[in-house]
Amino acid sequence: MRILSGIKPSGTIHIGNYLGMIKPMVDSQARGELFCFIANLHGLTSIFNAKEMTEYTNEAILDLLALGIDPEKSVVWVQSDVPEVAELTWYLNNVTPIGLLERCHAYKDALAKGIPANNGLFSYPVLMAADILAYQSNVVPVGKDQKQHLEVTRDIAMKFNATYGDAFTIPDAEIIEELAVVPGIDGQKMSKSYGNTIEIFGEEKALRKKIMSIVTDPTPVEAPKDPDASTIFALYRLFAANEQTQAMAERFRAGGLGYGSAKKELFELLWNHFAPYRDKRERLGKNQDFIAEVRRTGAAKARTIVTTTMDRVRTLVGVA
Ligand code: ADP
Ligand code: TRP
Repeated sequence: MRILSGIKPSGTIHIGNYLGMIKPMVDSQARGELFCFIANLHGLTSIFNAKEMTEYTNEAILDLLALGIDPEKSVVWVQSDVPEVAELTWYLNNVTPIGLLERCHAYKDALAKGIPANNGLFSYPVLMAADILAYQSNVVPVGKDQKQHLEVTRDIAMKFNATYGDAFTIPDAEIIEELAVVPGIDGQKMSKSYGNTIEIFGEEKALRKKIMSIVTDPTPVEAPKDPDASTIFALYRLFAANEQTQAMAERFRAGGLGYGSAKKELFELLWNHFAPYRDKRERLGKNQDFIAEVRRTGAAKARTIVTTTMDRVRTLVGVA
């Protein structure tokens, strides 16, 4: 079973990215062959600075390795190191109805917000389909917000197979429902575009400041509080053990626990949780040769699979 997922380089990883996508990817290494890549070509839809792009890409590789992707077991590479994926995107473009892309939330949201959309953003899901189909992936672990892109991928794959003959495995999305939407410090979905993120690898002071600025209601310290209505508790339970979560819920309900104190406990929990990953990231960051080697080896392995797919695709469409 081939499991594949990609992550856009964005400079920093937040808790939503970690729980919604990196952790499921890390865990999936136990049950199959994991292919994971840095989607720098997708990143180009929003990053227009070469230095930034290069830097963010390297940072993203470090993030993945520090958080538990094992390059001995899994294939780790950078999307643009396998340029055939861009070629495949073109073939897929020609079996993709415009209407399918017009219905995509990411594009519709950009339009609704008045963000001038370029063709890269519009055809983003086609490049994503190429990523998934080029590697004949069976399972794609993603956050809930990527569900629609997976449906588009399946549609495109079926349309291609029906038009030209079987070339692609039809992939399944795998969405971790329980952890699917991690709230940000304002209670909305955590997202860079909302400016409400909690970074995993930030400085201690910055993390503390973020946690302390979680939005709360004006309930006084002594009053009982509903844990299920609190962002602090929602984040706490994502990292605490069951008994710890129970105990915290009881303290919320009993009254006497101020939001300030609850935030301090949340900070400690997060800071300690990520300590080993921070150490590993720092160690790896000092060994750029190793990082470059992981990237090279990964691309070489990834490319052998894509070569087989592309030979068949080129023959089927008649450009071989
Ligand atoms: P952002 O919204 O901050 O720009 P991305 O869109 O780059 O984040 O998301 C990268 C990955 O992390 C995606 O697979 C996405 O589903 C997951 N993810 C992002 N934010 C969250 C969240 N708040 N809860 C769960 N998963 C998330
Ligand atoms: N679009 C995904 C995101 O925003 C990143 C991505 C690109 C991806 N290609 C992929 C995810 C292929 C899974 C499979 O997070």
